[in-house]
Amino acid sequence: MTRLRLKLFSFLSLSLLTLQLVSLDSLLVSARVASTNPNPNLPQCSDIRPQGLQDRPQYDYVVVGSGAGGGPLASRLAEEGFSVLVFDAGHDVNNLNTTIPLYFARASDDPQLDLNYTVSEYPEGFRFQKNDAWYPRALEDSISDLEGTSSEEGREGRLVFALDTVWRRIRIWGALPVASNFDGKEESLEDRVERVLVRKEVIVSAGVFQSPQLLMLSGIGNSSHLEEHAIEPVVHLPGVGNNLQDHDEIAMIFQTKGNFSFFNGCTFLSDPEEDPCLEYWKESGGKNVYSFSALDVITSTSPRGEDSSEAPSPPDILSYFGPFYFPGFVRGYPQLLANKSHNSITAIALKAHPSSLGTVRLSGSHPQDILQIHKNRFQDADRGYQDVVDLREALKRIRKLIRGSVLIGPYVEKEIAPGEDVESDEEIEEYIYRNVFGHHACCTNAIGPDDDDNAVLDGNFKVRGVNNLRVVDASSWPNVPGFFITTPIYMISEKAADVIIDEARRSQL
Ligand SMILES: *[C@@H]1O[C@H](CO)[C@@H](O)[C@H](O)[C@H]1NC(C)=O
Ligand SMILES: *[C@@H]1O[C@H](CO)[C@@H](O)[C@H](O)[C@H]1NC(C)=O
Ligand SMILES: *[C@@H]1O[C@H](CO)[C@@H](O)[C@H](O)[C@H]1NC(C)=O
Ligand SMILES: *[C@@H]1O[C@H](CO)[C@@H](O)[C@H](O)[C@H]1NC(C)=O
Ligand SMILES: *[C@@H]1O[C@H](CO)[C@@H](O)[C@H](O)[C@H]1NC(C)=O
Repeated sequence: MTRLRLKLFSFLSLSLLTLQLVSLDSLLVSARVASTNPNPNLPQCSDIRPQGLQDRPQYDYVVVGSGAGGGPLASRLAEEGFSVLVFDAGHDVNNLNTTIPLYFARASDDPQLDLNYTVSEYPEGFRFQKNDAWYPRALEDSISDLEGTSSEEGREGRLVFALDTVWRRIRIWGALPVASNFDGKEESLEDRVERVLVRKEVIVSAGVFQSPQLLMLSGIGNSSHLEEHAIEPVVHLPGVGNNLQDHDEIAMIFQTKGNFSFFNGCTFLSDPEEDPCLEYWKESGGKNVYSFSALDVITSTSPRGEDSSEAPSPPDILSYFGPFYFPGFVRGYPQLLANKSHNSITAIALKAHPSSLGTVRLSGSHPQDILQIHKNRFQDADRGYQDVVDLREALKRIRKLIRGSVLIGPYVEKEIAPGEDVESDEEIEEYIYRNVFGHHACCTNAIGPDDDDNAVLDGNFKVRGVNNLRVVDASSWPNVPGFFITTPIYMISEKAADVIIDEARRSQL
């Protein structure tokens, strides 16, 4: 039950971690020293092995990030008998926000979970500007499950967690984390650095923004960009932080004539005395609307709509409808959702394969310098505007569907967003430019073939040109998969576990 609930819940969130402060040093140095099969063409670092490392605990693997990418992978490695140290910048938040499915909106506003990135939808200078989207970190509750697993088998200590900890610096490789809800930049990180020795590999699963950041701060990336921030390049991989993709989503919201009775008394608060729905939810063991996640009815269509004479292409637009008020992941939405869902229907058109390619760039070499994140929506010279047109046509279809529906139409009072007066193609397009959102950012450390200059990873998740380092999370794909990305992240996490375990077994033969 718990697991199911979490999965339903987390389709809205990302494999992201709030990396906060400092921790490890020399990991990769150590990992390379310990490598059984070092690549002779890479810089060898045995001469810079720091003093005192012998005294530190040793692990077979270190996984940075316990989201949907790192969590299952760490668990699999531990089940296989390896010792694994998992870092997470956050901690296991266990409160109403993370346990009641319909509180997902509150969770994304919960300071304990808030990653608080500012993401720009458009490049600087574009006629529209929008940067009110923000990202909560992943709500992976697998940490306690994992600990349970290892101790049940009587082999405690194989899976060790360091929570509220952040990778900061790997000596010759640079440093890590940014952050969000931290109080100012730490000036003297050096005192707080600790070292851990890794026997086999480091796996970075810090998410679409912080995984490329960790690589770049460690000297792995576009060397010109690194030099702009006085970071000594170690491996020139120009694709790091490029290829940022997302889905394009746009909401259409209707007000209903009456209230949905299942929301009667629901205030979405934390105190049962102020929230009859919460009180009933607790007393009845979860038997009311709070046990539902947001997803409701879904339809999908191919790109060119009904009157295309071309061969049908695979579905590219998904429309989902639900009894809630949801303008998208914009600041302030959780309160709007709580206040207005009792008489609202939201329909969202989601474009699965938009053309936009964005970037994640450093703004400085300090681990807590903010990242510059631009999604560059609709900028592709050939396909960018077509993406807007596809969304526009999807909104028109939704409008027709709601108005024409004998089931829903009679209960609808009016359309509140964009509103019935927004009618011409130009007006609808402007609404799209101003309100597009997306919450499935990915692909900033893309897997690609040997002859692709922008490939960051090989087909086994290994960072090109580096020994003993892999990236396994939403940043690993070359293209945004499907309509929702959480399940695919779990899948690549399992796939990577197979690959890593298989390699480890073969190296022991
Ligand atoms: C849940 O999130 C809200 C913000 O949405 C926050 O005010 C509250 O403190 C959080 N925690 C609990 C236990 O409700
Ligand atoms: C989140 O970021 C915004 C904009 O950068 C800032 O104003 C706000 O104080 C931040 N909130 C927290 C909790 O850090
Ligand atoms: C590498 O960085 C330089 C300097 O910021 C930039 O001009 C160039 O476009 C970047 N190359 C790639 C492939 O992103
Ligand atoms: C509809 O629900 C809202 C919010 O719960 C409430 O304030 C309002 O009185 C309700 N209206 C009717 C007609 O029940
Ligand atoms: C939500 O409702 C509360 C209580 O009625 C009100 O104080 C608050 O301003 C409303 N907020 C929004 C964003 O509608």
